[in-house]
Amino acid sequence: MFKKKNKSFLITGGSGFIGRNIAENLVSQGFKVTIFDNNSRGSVKQLRFKKKINLVTGDIRNRKKFFKCLKKIDAVIHLAYINGTKFFYSKPNLVLDVAVKGLINVLEGCNKYKIKELYLASSSEVYQTPLKTPTTELEMLKVPDVYNPRYSYGVGKILTEVMGINLGRKFFKKLIIFRPHNVYGPNMGNEHVIPEFLSRFKRLKGKKFKIQGSGNEVRSFIFIDDFVKAFNLLIKKGKHLNIYNIGTSERITIKKLAITISKILNKKISLKKTPLRKGGTKIRLPDIKKIKKLGFKPEYNVAKGIKKIISKK
Ligand SMILES: NC(=O)c1ccc[n+]([C@@H]2O[C@H](COP(=O)([O-])OP(=O)(O)OC[C@H]3O[C@@H](n4cnc5c(N)ncnc54)[C@H](O)[C@@H]3O)[C@@H](O)[C@H]2O)c1
Repeated sequence: MFKKKNKSFLITGGSGFIGRNIAENLVSQGFKVTIFDNNSRGSVKQLRFKKKINLVTGDIRNRKKFFKCLKKIDAVIHLAYINGTKFFYSKPNLVLDVAVKGLINVLEGCNKYKIKELYLASSSEVYQTPLKTPTTELEMLKVPDVYNPRYSYGVGKILTEVMGINLGRKFFKKLIIFRPHNVYGPNMGNEHVIPEFLSRFKRLKGKKFKIQGSGNEVRSFIFIDDFVKAFNLLIKKGKHLNIYNIGTSERITIKKLAITISKILNKKISLKKTPLRKGGTKIRLPDIKKIKKLGFKPEYNVAKGIKKIISKK
């Protein structure tokens, strides 16, 4: 079944940043694709191959509408979620509502329509402040403070993983969980650090450039083209009930990121530090040995990826 040439994928949240790129890639390989999204954040405007994709506008919490789309689907990629750090603080109830009801509808829908292949998007947020870096998939998952709304996002992802694994054992032939680490690229909205920096650089008057925290916080970023390649490997070679970090090993501080962009744009800056938001973490860096074993080799470092974004504007 998994080798079927005209296999049919349904992508929840498929008009979002990652979903659009996965959808385009699957269509270019000859697969059938349905996108199910309420377009609250995503947009199909930038989507290539629109005519070849079955586009359904709907809320993942709407069971009836979602179930209707599951007939003749072979595999589901579940991405629909409230993303963007500022929303974790400002809309925790919505984050949890979409996370929990969406997940239950996806798991029960697959079960009802005998869809045996499921890819669930988790996140690096499940590690919070990891005990070890680079962080492997075996790291302990954490909810450091139930009173901090930020963790609404991470809790939803932990639930995704725990329910996914437990139901996966019983009902699926291939259930895979992936943890993206700061994916970036063109047209992703400004609620992420790289596009947010780029848009502020564009409007910058004077030299003062604000950053959150001391600037010594460590992150790693993965360019969308590399992410799609890694995701393809999961489709081709990923193993049932396995969890995969998707990211790069390029360790970069927020200070260095700002300076890298300033050099590319040829703008002189002086950094102004502001307090890190409560729950913001000092280091996040994945161990990517597991996805590398499937053949993953990232092509982009941060400077190359940022130049590509700028060249597309
Ligand atoms: N971009 C990253 O760096 C990153 C990192 C870790 C995890 N992830 C996860 O990967 C997935 C995709 O992320 P993305 O960057 O493409 O985010 P995105 O916000 O661009 O895409 C999410 C999509 O879900 C849709 N959506 C939201 N609520 C919905 C609802 N109730 N019903 C139907 N659709 C709904 C939005 O309209 C949007 O198109 C998400 O699950 C996210 O949590 C992303």
